[in-house]
Amino acid sequence: MADKKLTSQTAIVTGANSGIGEGVALALGNEGANVIVNYVTNPDAANAVVEKIKSFGGNAIAIKADVSNEGEVINMFQQTIAQFGTVDILVNNAGLQKDARLHEMTLAQWQLVIDINLTGQFLCAREAIKEFLRRGIVPERSVACGKIICMSSVHEMIPWAGHANYATSKGGIKMLMQTMAQEYGREKIRVNSICPGAIKTPINTAAWSTPEAYNSLMNLIPYNRIGVPEDIGKLAVFLSSDDSDYITGASIFIDGGMTVFEGFATGG
Ligand code: BGC
Repeated sequence: MADKKLTSQTAIVTGANSGIGEGVALALGNEGANVIVNYVTNPDAANAVVEKIKSFGGNAIAIKADVSNEGEVINMFQQTIAQFGTVDILVNNAGLQKDARLHEMTLAQWQLVIDINLTGQFLCAREAIKEFLRRGIVPERSVACGKIICMSSVHEMIPWAGHANYATSKGGIKMLMQTMAQEYGREKIRVNSICPGAIKTPINTAAWSTPEAYNSLMNLIPYNRIGVPEDIGKLAVFLSSDDSDYITGASIFIDGGMTVFEGFATGG
């Protein structure tokens, strides 16, 4: 275990029973972290992630909590601390899309996306920071007092017609992340965002599940392949470990080049 990057650290990964969250949970578990596999529906999928982590010698438990519910978030942190003593890493990953053109978007569609994607990140970060400050730095585990990774998106930068609620939530995450990095840098808490492009997960099945859709998606991706959750897992390990100790307040785009606007390769 000694050569692993996150040995004895405890990580909460929200929305870890599928997609990017699952990829991140597996990668952190593989580097020796105790992983809390948070979920809100589909406990079987969460338990399967726990079992996978255990199968390669890691430590994991599943905890049900809706990240937009203050009481459930507080309870998840209490359970984690009771089980593992503290929290070293928070990966604020849980998120969803409820797409609609703006003039047809219901208040419920708007509110649900803001509640889960943005307010959920606030609630979890608040509890994590409280625990980081209470515990302080434990030099045997990390030179930082704690690490928060916010799962943002290329859509914190790229406007997205038909997805105003989602793009707005990601723009909000950018400012939440940077403000937290500014506010707690002095206390040695690092806060960064991962900004994925198109990653092959259930959230965007329509964008990759037919050859036509996949080919059209490739017009947006210079590197010419869709991402996979393992791509994001590797970056999450880096941002969680002391290898990235001088990185805070950064949005790291991991998108096969989506944000270099391939359409301009032949135009403009
Ligand atoms: C969205 C995906 C989309 C990708 C690139 C992500 O944030 O959740 O649905 O494929 O951005 O547009």
